[in-house]
Parts: sequence; structure tokens; C-alpha cells
Amino acid sequence: MPSPPTDKFRALLSREDWDHLVALLPRLDPAVAADLFLEIPVEQRETLFRRLPIDLAAKLAEMFPYYDTYVLLHSRSIQDLIAIVDGMNPAERVRFFDELPEPSWQILMDELGPADAAATGAAPPIFRALPPVEAIVQARRVEKSFHQADGGLVQVIAPIDLSLEPGIIIALLGPSGSGKSTLLRMLSGLATPSAGEVLWHGRPMAESRPNVAIVFQSFALFPWLTVAENVEVPLLALGMTQGERRRKALDTLDSVGLKGFENAYPKELSGGMKQRVGFARALAVEPEILFMDEPFSALDVLTAENLRFPSSML
Ligand SMILES: Nc1ncnc2c1ncn2[C@@H]1O[C@H](COP(=O)(O)OP(=O)(O)O)[C@@H](O)[C@H]1O
Ligand SMILES: [Mg+2]
Repeated sequence: MPSPPTDKFRALLSREDWDHLVALLPRLDPAVAADLFLEIPVEQRETLFRRLPIDLAAKLAEMFPYYDTYVLLHSRSIQDLIAIVDGMNPAERVRFFDELPEPSWQILMDELGPADAAATGAAPPIFRALPPVEAIVQARRVEKSFHQADGGLVQVIAPIDLSLEPGIIIALLGPSGSGKSTLLRMLSGLATPSAGEVLWHGRPMAESRPNVAIVFQSFALFPWLTVAENVEVPLLALGMTQGERRRKALDTLDSVGLKGFENAYPKELSGGMKQRVGFARALAVEPEILFMDEPFSALDVLTAENLRFPSSML
């Protein structure tokens, strides 16, 4: 049985009694109102949406599928559109932005960005919607030069600013010798810059104990240690007991598909298996950042493809 307000809504709609419809909508449960709204033929829907006060339009915009929200927002003036997006619940707004296909997202960002900033002097809503992210590693005007045999100095990294934030993947691309490894070594704290500074959670890298792990192209395993012992090496520095270290090593080896190989020595393993040990050793410390320096380039294509996304990394 449809409830009386629902009947009333439909009756008012059939008479195109917009004023009473606008007055009725806020008295309905928002989910019911949104459902009723989506039943309306498109032209009438836009007519009604154009008449809604900003706060009600924002509440309904949160409930619609993203494409209806997008279309309805564009039935309003640009000032109204900005105000409605701004009035949406921040979490719903982020969900709406997330769901939008890239071209529509770009159009909306263009509409929201300059006009909103110019009109209110404030950041556009998307920036206010997202909590500020603290960079894990920050490079500020970082440079690296090396002395050459002839006494000259060669600059390998020109001043660069870079920020590594949680939840992102960054790829450095460049030809051999362009300085990828050099930059990675500075960002991970393995090497010090010639100028500029690298910060770990806002503090100088040199004064910090960065929780990072690195997977090297050369695997960099200790040949005299077993697979499990290789994985345990970085765990020593974490102050784990021998039992804890072994348990952690075995769990991580299991997650990269090396269960049963814990007592083997590196020379008994194939290239792909060696690099799995490299991954296990890196992942065992549960690093905040995982650096990978061409970890697949020493492997044949098929092995590299299989290793590309170890399930434990996802
Ligand atoms: N310790 C070093 N001493 C002198 N030159 C170095 C040193 N490390 C790297 N280089 C030089 O810096 C340049 C960049 O090297 P690298 O960072 O390893 O490049 P990529 O990783 O992009 O191949 C190369 O020309 C290399 O010879
Ligand atoms: Mg390199």
C-alpha cells in the first residue's frame, strides 16, 4: 500500500503544482523522496529540481545515482551547482566524485574550481572534503652530485621536490643512468643528498628510523643464509624474539608462494624464486613504504609477469 504522502506527491505532480511539491518533499523520508523523484519523467524532474532550495537539492543529490546527480546539477545555474555540491555531506560528495567517469569529473572540477574559489575565496569543495594527508616522505630541493675520476663533479639529480603520501603508487621512469636508483636511495634514507633535505614524517631522515623496505634488482640475498634466515635479517633490528622472527618469516614466505623452501639456500632457487625471497624480506617488516628498484628486470618476461603482483601486496 503506497503511503498517503506518496499518493499526494503523485497527485501534485500530475497537476504540476510545483510549489506544493517543493513544500511536500522535505516532509518525506529522504530515501522515499529520492525514489519518487527518480520516477518523474526527465523534463518534469529537472523543472522540479530547479525549484528546490539549495539544502534540499543537496540532500537529494546525495541519494541519486551519480549520473542523475550530475544531470540534475547541470539543470541549475553554476552558482547553485557550486552551493549544492558544497551542501552535500562530505562523504557522499567524495563518493559522487569517485563514481563520476573521468570526463564528467573533469568538467565538474573545472566548474567548481575557479568559480568557487573566486566567489568565496575558499578552497573548492573537493579539497575541503578530503582530510589533509600527511606525507610519509618529503624531498625538498634534493640534489645529488658525484665526484668523477678526473676530479670533476657531475650532477645526477637536479633539485627536485617530491612527496610520498599514504595509499599512492609512484613510478619513476627514465633511461638507464638517468638517476632513478640514486633518487630512490635518497628517498629511502640509504644515501644522503648533496643539497636539499629528505624528511620522514616531517623530521630529517638522518634523525629518523624510517620504516621502509627495498626490493633490489640484484635480489641482494645473503648466499650463506637460508631463505628463512634471509627474511629474518631485517626483523632482527625490530627487536623480535627468535620465535617471533621465524614465525613472521614463514608466514611471509607462505604469502609469496615459497612455503616449503624456508631451509633452502639462495643458490638452489630460480631467479623468480630468489626475487620472491626479496619480496618476502621486504614485506616481513610491514613497511610504511615499499621501494622497488627494477625488481623484475633481471628476470625473464614470463617469470616477471607472474611475480608482478604478489598477492600479499594487494
Ligand atoms: N656512487 C656513485 N659514484 C659515482 N657515480 C655514480 C654513483 N652512483 C651512481 N652514479 C652515476 O649516477 C648516474 C645515475 O645512476 P643511477 O641512479 O644508478 O641510474 P638509473 O638507476 O636511472 O639507471 C649514472 O651516471 C651513474 O654512473
Ligand atoms: Mg637503477
